[in-house]
Amino acid sequence: MVIDEKFIDQFVNVTSKAAIASYPLVGKNDKVAADKAAVDSMRNELNQLNVNGKIVIGEGELDEAPMLYIGEKVGTTNGPEIDIAVDPLEGTNFAANNLPGALSVIAIAEKSNLFNAPETYMEKISAKVSETGIIDLDYSVKENIFNLSEYLNKKPENITACVMDRPRHKDIINELNILGVNIKLIADGDVSGALLVTDDKYGVDIFLGIGGGPEGVLAAAALDTFKCSFQGRFLFNTDEDKIRANKMGIQNLTKKYELKEIVKGDSIFCATGITSGDLVSGIKIENNEFITETLVTHKSSGMKKVIKKVINR
Ligand code: FBP
Repeated sequence: MVIDEKFIDQFVNVTSKAAIASYPLVGKNDKVAADKAAVDSMRNELNQLNVNGKIVIGEGELDEAPMLYIGEKVGTTNGPEIDIAVDPLEGTNFAANNLPGALSVIAIAEKSNLFNAPETYMEKISAKVSETGIIDLDYSVKENIFNLSEYLNKKPENITACVMDRPRHKDIINELNILGVNIKLIADGDVSGALLVTDDKYGVDIFLGIGGGPEGVLAAAALDTFKCSFQGRFLFNTDEDKIRANKMGIQNLTKKYELKEIVKGDSIFCATGITSGDLVSGIKIENNEFITETLVTHKSSGMKKVIKKVINR
């Protein structure tokens, strides 16, 4: 089964409207308000679509999130059964502080084909490699870089690795420094970080480090269409995390997930820019119209492109 191409435009519209909704709050130093604006808009738009949708990655569990909670049903029910992962505002700090890279993101797959990821951290690795065994979460940083170096026929000093700027990545960064690898440090936004390996124009060969689990699933959906490698391993630090994971049906808490276990079958991924970043430009206003840019992938048609949309103010 494939997800009909007609849904592409509809989901581009959903993330575009959410991006536009949070745009007035860019630079207002209020990440909660910027997030809420995007969430409200996204929920409203999703509920107008002729789909039988279930939020599998959202704003939290029912007791934590009144809107777009995990398990919430969205859409008119008059349409295909789909799983939906949302991050209405990815990069809340970016939006609050008017910094580059705030996005509104969604990924959809057919029912039961998108991993139901808990709200916990995930160890991640991605690269533009289609073969298995080149990069792997179980390899050391050195092994990954040496394998990639051989695969890309590039010396380690000509390889660029994207890593989030966090104290927990000290050892990874030290190791990369010793190997002479160029590092692109990002302050936030690892959906985008993981996707920088998809095209040579971004100048990133490998993404690695620990970020949000939900963001890992969203990135994996797009990486699948780009035929890139991705692996993720959840990190459950507290007993509460472990209990929640068990409730979600995760028995093996240390399992390394391959991309194909995270997203199966057909998928659509949309990421609309709120502020301009590496992947897409942010919201622009021209002639009393909003112009949005959305990175879109659709697995079954192989579509991967940036779509511009003009929406009346
Ligand atoms: P928010 O949009 O929820 O603020 O998330 C931004 C982000 O940088 C994600 O891209 C990333 O996965 C996560 O935060 C990392 O979490 P932490 O800031 O705790 O390291």
